[in-house]
Amino acid sequence: MELISRFAQILAESRQRCEAESASHFVVREEIKGRLNMQEVGKAAAGGAGLLALGDNADFMRGLLHEHGLAGKLKLIYIDPPFFSKASYDAVLRLETEAGKKLPPLRHFAYEDVWQKDMAGYLTMLCERLLLMKELLADDGTIWVHLDWHVVHYVKVFMDEIFGEKNFVNEIIWQYKSGGSGKRHFARKHDTILVYSKGRGYYFAPPKEKSYNRGFKPYRFKGVKEYRDEAGWYTMVTMKDVWQVDMVGRTAAERTGYATQKPEALLMRIIESASREGDLCADFFCGSGTLAAVCARLGRRFICCDQSPLAVATALGRLAGQGAAVKVAQAQKPAAVRAGDVDGSAKACARAEFAVSRCEVAGADKDLFKIELTGYMLTQLPASLDEDGRSAIKNLLAEEPLTLIDQWSVDFAYDGRCFRPQSFFAREHGKLPRTCEKLLPQGFSGNICVKTVDALGNSTLTVVAQ
Ligand SMILES: C[S@@+](CC[C@H](N)C(=O)[O-])C[C@H]1O[C@@H](n2cnc3c(N)ncnc32)[C@H](O)[C@@H]1O
Repeated sequence: MELISRFAQILAESRQRCEAESASHFVVREEIKGRLNMQEVGKAAAGGAGLLALGDNADFMRGLLHEHGLAGKLKLIYIDPPFFSKASYDAVLRLETEAGKKLPPLRHFAYEDVWQKDMAGYLTMLCERLLLMKELLADDGTIWVHLDWHVVHYVKVFMDEIFGEKNFVNEIIWQYKSGGSGKRHFARKHDTILVYSKGRGYYFAPPKEKSYNRGFKPYRFKGVKEYRDEAGWYTMVTMKDVWQVDMVGRTAAERTGYATQKPEALLMRIIESASREGDLCADFFCGSGTLAAVCARLGRRFICCDQSPLAVATALGRLAGQGAAVKVAQAQKPAAVRAGDVDGSAKACARAEFAVSRCEVAGADKDLFKIELTGYMLTQLPASLDEDGRSAIKNLLAEEPLTLIDQWSVDFAYDGRCFRPQSFFAREHGKLPRTCEKLLPQGFSGNICVKTVDALGNSTLTVVAQ
């Protein structure tokens, strides 16, 4: 059957799924207290903190609606779903040994655009989620759907149906320079972001931009303020819908290596145009957490979700690194972690080793705990790497296994359910601290639990002392 004749069926099926499927129960497994002082940086006290969920976003959204009462509470929803590009996306790992030796870049599978031959399946998946997002969106909110030429024309038809044609706000063209070109077509250098609201009263604070006069000469129209710079005369106008923003550069500080990471400058423009400090913003296909990272800095609260452990680990590391407060939720699992256990959140194929020591501090009724990262191994080499990649990882594990660890953190009072690290270490400029020291009351006998996350997105959670 022709795709277009299936549109009504796709929409009906999406509505059915949206209503019928039950929600998974998501539980908070990790909580990082932020060190950003919101008052100090002039942000609203409520702003900047957020929730990051690992799991399928439709399940998660149903939970937000039915368990958490968030219907109509989100001021801004931005999504950057897979584009139906018939591709798998890789994260590029650039590992460096402690001695400063750089390994050749390794390509590691990050996520797959799984709807390879099934456009109807893709559209049903997206429509079901757009319907859930509509329920979560505030009456004065806006939704921004980031796509490209593969599907944007189809999705716009569904957006018109779901949000209403009259609630179309903009079609933003994000233009960039990066990427290749072809000999049989003009170089494809833009993505499209569709913006819709739920009604006329949506919040919108677009930035202004310079508009140069013809010939760069003054017009001297009555009541129009004109300015001049080195190029000539201009007026300030509401920003146009074609945006030129560079992609994340190879050496940019914001680069995480996660495939399809979007630039913070792009998200900053969206967030500032569509929300105020303290507002709740969401990204349900969050990847490396670009929306979350910018929200945290701009004093917005955020809710993000991704089904890939690598994405959530990347986003968490990024947020922790910038001092944001964040909780990490996961679809509920029955067993709690016991001493020496490895967390099952990613595939349980990693094991970290530690040396723990305690000594009395003379004159104080405290003990100094010292936890040292001593070993790391993978019980299974990742299938997501090619043969060369696997052999490079094998050599690394034999020679300098700790090089693979990207972040580690310690909770000195682990309750067996939610990991709340008081110390957090991330690799910076190739270096990762190996020792964590903490003064604890003499006779302390709580659970000390350590989490590691490696560059492939594997995590371990190990109780090292009880
Ligand atoms: C294009 S990437 C997002 C990149 C992101 N904007 C960034 O700046 O890093 C799309 C993401 O959607 C995630 N994804 C795909 N289907 C999903 C689903 N059903 N639930 C949650 N996440 C999903 C993928 O794992 C991938 O990380």
